[in-house]
Amino acid sequence: MRVFDQKKGLISFLSVCRAENQTIGLVPTMGALHQGHLSLVKTALGQNDVVVVSIFVNPTQFDKKDDLEKYPRNMDADISLLNEVSENIVVFTPTESEIYDGKIVSESYEFGGLDKVMEGKFREGHFDGVGTIVELLLRTVSPDRAYFGEKDFQQLQIIKKMAQMKNLPYEIIPCSIERESHGLAMSSRNERLSEKVRNEASFIYKTLLTAKSKFGIESTIYISEWVKSQFEKNEQLELEYFEIMEEETLTPISKRQQNKKYRAFIAVYAEGVRLIDNLRLN
Ligand code: PAF
Repeated sequence: MRVFDQKKGLISFLSVCRAENQTIGLVPTMGALHQGHLSLVKTALGQNDVVVVSIFVNPTQFDKKDDLEKYPRNMDADISLLNEVSENIVVFTPTESEIYDGKIVSESYEFGGLDKVMEGKFREGHFDGVGTIVELLLRTVSPDRAYFGEKDFQQLQIIKKMAQMKNLPYEIIPCSIERESHGLAMSSRNERLSEKVRNEASFIYKTLLTAKSKFGIESTIYISEWVKSQFEKNEQLELEYFEIMEEETLTPISKRQQNKKYRAFIAVYAEGVRLIDNLRLN
């Protein structure tokens, strides 16, 4: 397994791979790797000869300094974990000034409203930061395919939009959510939870499953109110939002249409840690 912390070395290594007709996959991460990331990496290894895993905690996508500082960082553990998976992995661990060429700011994108709801509403500038870093990584690596988890479904739609607007010729591949045994969506942030609350947080997924069972039977307003009332009764978990949206446009459902796909989205605070999840409803 190769590890690069500079773009130059990575680019010249990948140009040799490309000259040998090897295909390249990219899995962008912020480290603190868990089974969810490994499942993206394994999918990418199944579809490409070489897989670049970037590990970079991107400052421009954090709206709160405290959240950035507390974001878990386990670089040595991450590298040994990847080392066990395959020798065809290339790890890219740039510093802030290396990847941003010294200018650590976000570009302002026009995402056509995809960034104005849910995460975008509660995390100022978040998606401009995500768009900026993902565009930089895609342009640096020039992969055949890049892999993103559906836990961050809004992020996935925004990245697809950015790639389309910028005419980036890389295939964006969505990967389904990996869950802990009790149902909590895997996330690096779960590490910050106590054992007790980590178990309790399975309530988020259970609530989504019940909301799904009510979809098509009860009204959207009824389901939203029901979800709110469930969290009001829960002392450990504080609901930030629950939304039912049309999947492609991320617009709130008005009247259910047969040919559209709908998804429930949720954000919850547990012990000061922000957790998100989502579930396809139909
Ligand atoms: O999903 C993440 O971990 C990050 O938002 C990403 C895509 C690696 C960009 O920093």
